Amino acid sequence: MNIVLLGAPGAGKGTQASKISEKYNLLHISTGDIFRANIKGGTEIGKLAKSFIDAGKLVPDEVTCDIVKDRLTWDDAKSGYMLDGFPRNLYQAQELDKFAKIDLCLNIEVDESLLMDRICGRRVCQCGESYHVSRLNGKTTCAKCGKELYRRADDNPQTVKSRLDTYNTQTAPLVDYYKAQGKLKTVDGGKGSIDDIFAEICKILNK
Ligand code: AP5
Ligand code: MG
Repeated sequence: MNIVLLGAPGAGKGTQASKISEKYNLLHISTGDIFRANIKGGTEIGKLAKSFIDAGKLVPDEVTCDIVKDRLTWDDAKSGYMLDGFPRNLYQAQELDKFAKIDLCLNIEVDESLLMDRICGRRVCQCGESYHVSRLNGKTTCAKCGKELYRRADDNPQTVKSRLDTYNTQTAPLVDYYKAQGKLKTVDGGKGSIDDIFAEICKILNK
């Protein structure tokens, strides 16, 4: 099964993707993680992406679509994948439909008032796990791999405001795009614990 995960910044896409990937053995592809790895590695893509990410804006479509198109040709994508953070506008969604067959769009809906705290309190690991300071009980390392946690450079109030604005204007219309294709399933990602929301997602995926 090939899934698109849709949701505002901080909705819980990465958190739920990690759990889905483990339980259903689906490859997790996050364009945000790919860009951050490129920034860390000092690549040309990383240099280009950094200015857009720091401003809370979308990295240009051509670059992003090429990365995803190429990634989906790898062997590990053949038995199913989850796209986290792609597509992010109508153009990307239409391009994706040209090189992939998407079965389901899982839309994680969260009231905007919760997102700023979630993002600004987030701590992440380079292995892809993310946490919230309120549940870390003072721990500074990843429970999965033991590496030191850090705060993402774009997780500051000013950039988050811009990311939310980008989401509302460019990404939110994809809800209607996938609804029109009969592929949309929405979960309330603002009510309940991470495990409660995962249970709702499992109900959808088990059908
Ligand atoms: P990206 O990395 O995709 O960031 P994002 O979409 O802003 O989403 P986040 O990763 O911030 O949130 P999330 O939904 O994964 O939440 P998480 O699970 O961590 O993209 C970053 C940038 O890269 C973009 O701004 C753009 O510049 C660029 N980019 C990426 N893709 C692109 C594309 N396709 N085109 C162009 N540019 C692109 O959870 C957040 C926090 O909430 C955590 O602390 C978590 O523990 C907590 N939490 C989760 N669930 C719950 C819950 N149920 N209750 C309480 N807390 C919870
Ligand atoms: Mg994420």
